Amino acid sequence: MHHARNITPMTGNSAPTAISPSISVGIVGASGYTGGELARLLMDHPGVAHLQVASSHHAGKYLHALHPHLRPAFGRDPIRIVSPDDLAPCDVIFLAQRHGMSMGEIDRYARSAPRIIDLSADFRLRDPADYPRWYGHEHADPTRLATAVYGVPELHRAELPAAALISGAGCLATAAILGLRPLVATGLLDQAMPLIIEGKVGSSALGATPAPGSHHPERSHVVRAYAPTGHRHTAEIAQELHWPIANGSEPGGIAFSATAVELVRGVAITAHAFTREKLTDHDLWQIYRRAYRDEPFMRLVKERAGVYRYPEPKVLIGTNFCDIGFETDPQSHRVVIIAALDNLMKGAAGNALQALNCAMGWDETTGLRFTGLHPI
Ligand SMILES: NC(=O)c1ccc[n+]([C@@H]2O[C@H](COP(=O)([O-])OP(=O)(O)OC[C@H]3O[C@@H](n4cnc5c(N)ncnc54)[C@H](OP(=O)(O)O)[C@@H]3O)[C@@H](O)[C@H]2O)c1
Repeated sequence: MHHARNITPMTGNSAPTAISPSISVGIVGASGYTGGELARLLMDHPGVAHLQVASSHHAGKYLHALHPHLRPAFGRDPIRIVSPDDLAPCDVIFLAQRHGMSMGEIDRYARSAPRIIDLSADFRLRDPADYPRWYGHEHADPTRLATAVYGVPELHRAELPAAALISGAGCLATAAILGLRPLVATGLLDQAMPLIIEGKVGSSALGATPAPGSHHPERSHVVRAYAPTGHRHTAEIAQELHWPIANGSEPGGIAFSATAVELVRGVAITAHAFTREKLTDHDLWQIYRRAYRDEPFMRLVKERAGVYRYPEPKVLIGTNFCDIGFETDPQSHRVVIIAALDNLMKGAAGNALQALNCAMGWDETTGLRFTGLHPI
């Protein structure tokens, strides 16, 4: 696939930069949901001169046989899936495999590309000891783990250009961290009180492989608590918020619960944090505006009237936004934070592309400026 065009993307926050197709990109795990979303984004990205998609189980098929929305159009040739063994050397490889596969295969892919962006949890946690605790196995490559950057640009933008290994983030974790980080950073929270985070998540977060819980009669119409305690994303949230995990003897910590709800795409978190002094909504506006005013994908949603007064994943489908809302409880020192995103976009593939844009020095919004649909 070749793009013979130069475009000049514009953003509200940075000077326009001309991008010409210059890099060659591979996707491994192309049959999965995040692999398909990466292909959708990268096939039209102005900086991508050549795209290869690889799958261990579906080599030889056309990409659109697995992802019907990627059926060729506008004169574009159909994309044939190759085996990961047949990936030609390229500039960057996205690994969109199920958890546990990348850590043992990273050397192999690093020989083919100087930059890897891994969407799984294999390189998210800084401390190798967290892997036995949260994932039930030792980390296979602690040396390389030490070099990985947690690839959420809003958190680690400056580290991305030099990073050879960029890790994606958990979808629920991304919403929780981006929602809470400005407030935590003020130092105004009462550390003796827990950060209580209730996450709601749609079915595509569990991937394309069917399971008993994803069988339609079992999954449809659910509001199903599946991790009231012990959710693995707790570790990322603690790491990136610099907030302790509950340790059983001291008060405070992170109290995170996850519930599967009637959505295909979408994540929403409602978090409860407790401040030492009483804050007002005006204080929160100032805190969040200051933190996010230059962030193209972070929007504050807090309207006085109407149906969409707070963040709502329904209107974020296909977008790379993370919308944040908040309110102070007039009766207490409680602050409620609401954050919403599309798990396959800002929660996975969109964020990974934003990280690549950032690493390349391109406008971060390149290929990510879809604003959503309504009604949907
Ligand atoms: N879905 C989300 O919302 C989301 C959000 C954030 C992060 N992530 C992470 O991103 C990664 C990919 O997620 P996904 O939702 O795209 O997963 P997925 O739809 O289940 O697909 C992942 C890939 O893993 C491989 N795979 C699936 N089942 C397999 C099996 N039984 N044995 C061996 N390989 C198998 C397949 O690779 P081949 O194509 O090579 O056969 C598949 O393309 C995961 O590590 C996930 O934790 C997902």
